Amino acid sequence: MTARVALVTGGTGGIGTAICKRLAAQGHKVATNYRNEDKARAWQQQMRDAGFDIALAKGDVSSPAEAAGIVGEVERQLGPVEILVNNAGITRDTTFHKMRPEQWMEVINTNLNSVYNMTRPVIEGMRERRWGRVIQIASINGQKGQYGQANYAAAKAGMHGFTISLAQENARLGITVNTVSPGYIGTDMVMAVPEEVRNKIVAQIPTGRLGSPDEIAYAVSFFIPDEASWITGANLSANGGQYMGW
Ligand code: CAA
Repeated sequence: MTARVALVTGGTGGIGTAICKRLAAQGHKVATNYRNEDKARAWQQQMRDAGFDIALAKGDVSSPAEAAGIVGEVERQLGPVEILVNNAGITRDTTFHKMRPEQWMEVINTNLNSVYNMTRPVIEGMRERRWGRVIQIASINGQKGQYGQANYAAAKAGMHGFTISLAQENARLGITVNTVSPGYIGTDMVMAVPEEVRNKIVAQIPTGRLGSPDEIAYAVSFFIPDEASWITGANLSANGGQYMGW
């Protein structure tokens, strides 16, 4: 497979780490952003110890200026971004009638506005070079809704609306745009759901278990090779059978 430059946002998190490792193992040059310097440097060292060299660029994806700075720094270190994985995301779960404005805004800014902030600085280069991959990490809860996640589900559904529009605009230019919608994966984000609530959710998953970050990284890598160039605007569910849309 041709080695590419890949930028994975939120790479230091559960799913992000698995995506970074998988793309690096496939020979791509991989970078991620970070906000906390100490945490990121420790993570980078852990990756090195495991045999993966992942570049770092400081910045918050929810800020247009910082997102542009992340792209600039990655391009300085590795070259033009050819694969963008919009993975960074947060939760601020609460029922909507109790939701404070900042709980709505933080989730929309980090999970959805980030997709504009990160993709806008890379899309023109991809168009000029006639090759690109833009992959959104959305969620099963953007597809089916979730009690306590009006903010998160709105952002995740919005990410796929972005995918299917950007896919149409760029299909003739060798750029594919796709979404992966993970179900409940064994990450810190899911483990933060109260145990009793989580157990009820796991009971609804046909496979009878949480997914692993590697199972999402596999789904992401599916969209990257040239053999996948006919696949654009797709929403790939990777959820253990918990939600089967078609
Ligand atoms: N459907 C219907 N009713 C529900 C319900 C559901 N799914 N979940 C809770 N309720 C009901 C409860 O039974 C309870 O009813 P009673 O008051 O009559 O007993 C009422 O709602 C309040 O429930 P809680 O005690 O749970 O309320 P809370 O305010 O303490 O917490 C909550 C609400 C924050 C939404 C909590 O239920 C919760 O954390 N739920 C899980 C949300 C979730 O799945 N988040 C996913 C995080 S991981 C992620 O986002 C990754 C990904 O992409 C999958």
